[in-house]
Amino acid sequence: MNRPLIAPSLLAADFANLQRELELINRSEADYLHFDVMDGEFVPNISFGFPILEAVRRHCQKPLDVHLMIEQPDRYLDDFAKGGAEVIHVHYEACTHLHRTLSRIRELGCQAGVALNPHTPITGLEDVLEQIDVVLIMSVNPGFGGQSFIPRTLPKIKRLKQLLIANRSSARIEVDGGVGLNNASALLDAGADTLVAGSSVFGAHDPLEAIRQLKNSRQPMEV
Ligand code: DX5
Ligand code: ZN
Repeated sequence: MNRPLIAPSLLAADFANLQRELELINRSEADYLHFDVMDGEFVPNISFGFPILEAVRRHCQKPLDVHLMIEQPDRYLDDFAKGGAEVIHVHYEACTHLHRTLSRIRELGCQAGVALNPHTPITGLEDVLEQIDVVLIMSVNPGFGGQSFIPRTLPKIKRLKQLLIANRSSARIEVDGGVGLNNASALLDAGADTLVAGSSVFGAHDPLEAIRQLKNSRQPMEV
């Protein structure tokens, strides 16, 4: 059985020491670096964009998992693909033509991800499952790091897992927001395979060890 994929979120890093933080991620067992883009419209916060992506790309050896919390993400897909994204997540709530958007992400050579806000039902994905490589389940309302995990996420992941199995989809299930060692094994048991972790990694006394422990948290049960 595979160990979970771990994606530390750069949002919680010390930006004054970006190179040092990225070198730490390079030395770690992390599988991705999660890169949160916020536009102040889709979410009530602004994070970082292309200049930082460029700097990150120069120093980070891990593949980039780009989470676009922006309106009309189609405008920037080409730029993020050129900027080195391996995975591009768009928000379900921000896409009028989701099928087209996901197809475009794949055309650009990236994995296509769809992020769902806590209130967004999984049923809206049924007719685009074939276009999805990964579903990003938000376990907080997006916009800020360090928020509390919303418990309803667990049954939602279980239902999503069933939906994927019923449709023979091999899409990954990634969880973002309030994830740490306290809930990692429950999330994996529910069917998640990829964990995003911001404060629980960069806020830890020993971030390398925090990543290692997340990587070794309990295995998902065979369904
Ligand atoms: C929230 C972001 C998350 C955030 C997670 O809007 O999408 O990726 O960095 O941070 P933690 O792990 O601290 O909840
Ligand atoms: Zn995120």
